[in-house]
Amino acid sequence: MGVYILEKLVITGQTPLKGEVVISGAKNAAVAILPATLLINGTCTIENLPNISDVKLYCDILSQLGVKIDWISEHEIKVDSRNINSHIAPLDVTRKFRASYYLIGALLGRCRKAQVGIPGGCNLGNRPIDQHIKGFEALGANVEVLQGNITATAKNLQGTSIYMDVVSVGATMNIMLASVLAEGTTIIDNAAKEPHIVDLANFLNTMGADIRGAGTDVIKIRGVKELTGNATYSIVPDQIEAGTFMLAALASKGDIVVKNCITKHLESIIAKIEEIGGNVDANGDHLRVWYSKPLTKANVKTLPYPGFPTDLQPQMGVVLAQAKGTSIINESIWESRFQYTDELRKMGANITAQGKTAIFEGVEQLSAAPVSASDLRAGAALIIAGISAKGKTEIYNLNHIDRGYENIEEKFRKLGAKIERVSE
Ligand code: EPU
Repeated sequence: MGVYILEKLVITGQTPLKGEVVISGAKNAAVAILPATLLINGTCTIENLPNISDVKLYCDILSQLGVKIDWISEHEIKVDSRNINSHIAPLDVTRKFRASYYLIGALLGRCRKAQVGIPGGCNLGNRPIDQHIKGFEALGANVEVLQGNITATAKNLQGTSIYMDVVSVGATMNIMLASVLAEGTTIIDNAAKEPHIVDLANFLNTMGADIRGAGTDVIKIRGVKELTGNATYSIVPDQIEAGTFMLAALASKGDIVVKNCITKHLESIIAKIEEIGGNVDANGDHLRVWYSKPLTKANVKTLPYPGFPTDLQPQMGVVLAQAKGTSIINESIWESRFQYTDELRKMGANITAQGKTAIFEGVEQLSAAPVSASDLRAGAALIIAGISAKGKTEIYNLNHIDRGYENIEEKFRKLGAKIERVSE
């Protein structure tokens, strides 16, 4: 009989965060750059990889496809993709892992065929990939979705113009991956503009691709014969991790310096923090954020970059749950991203959520309760709630949090939070 170990975070709240935190490399850049190495007929070195379980999982998948990965340090790998031996990704693993869809674009680009297990809906709601498929088909691939697997094959990939019906991070990056080694020029119109899109383009260009316009809504990819690699690339800092610590500082009535971030990527969060009465002093690659007076209500609508990111919506929700007045959050990206509000209600929050809208009647103080993380960002939000609440909060379902935040409890502990991981 196996032994079942249950891990939880135990947080004793009401400690204002103080000190400095160093931001890691971006998860959502890393999970696209790792499969992008499949396109390189050579070697490369990747620095500033976040030490998170999603990265480990991706490295395992790449190894199974014949990619040789050497860990140089906790945050740096050397990758040799000269001898890929399969276009079929491990189906059971990829089916459980959202970002596995980048394997389709990368394998299709390199091998002209790909088979990947595709996850269905997830706990954020329905997550269609029709725009990815539309892009692959426009490039000349034949795509079939059967029994939970997606198979894409192409005799030839031919550059073309593709208009995205919705602004999609994943589809923009996947089409970029599939078209880098296509013949001719591909134009992606109505492309997503997130910092990780620019990071993927910079990575591919460093390895020999010819991509222009990433970060605007028109991206032009001139197909090249080969990516030769033999270069080193450092992953962009994670703007969502930075925003998470900024909002935690505010909710805890603290004063912290966030180091190794790109403050330009945080403009929408800085603006919202200032609107509710928080303070930010931004200086290029670091910023100070501090609380000086009671926070007030705000309305928030999540939007593609440069709008307010959906991946910071739950963390912002915790702040607004304790701000004076009535705030409204409108979630315009995901169908089902208010599950964390059920947990916050257990902690005394006064929130009514229906569909894509939630109304927050600010309360003065949250109180501790046992709660459970429904997804990665919900987990981060509950940590913030625990740090600001009265009493001892217990958070369960930590696997979600470990997917995307590096050493989260250690980073919070360094800022003075009383947080521990306990195994039962
Ligand atoms: N959509 C379609 N068709 C598609 C693709 C997307 O209708 O083919 C819709 C989605 O249903 C959604 C919207 O377009 O309503 C935007 O989805 P997008 O494709 O941009 O999301 P994604 O690529 O699946 C990435 C991040 C998410 C983040 C979103 C939005 C990764 C691995 N995931 O998802 O990150 O919320 O962009 O910024 O990069 C997280 O990190 O916690 C997370 C969920």
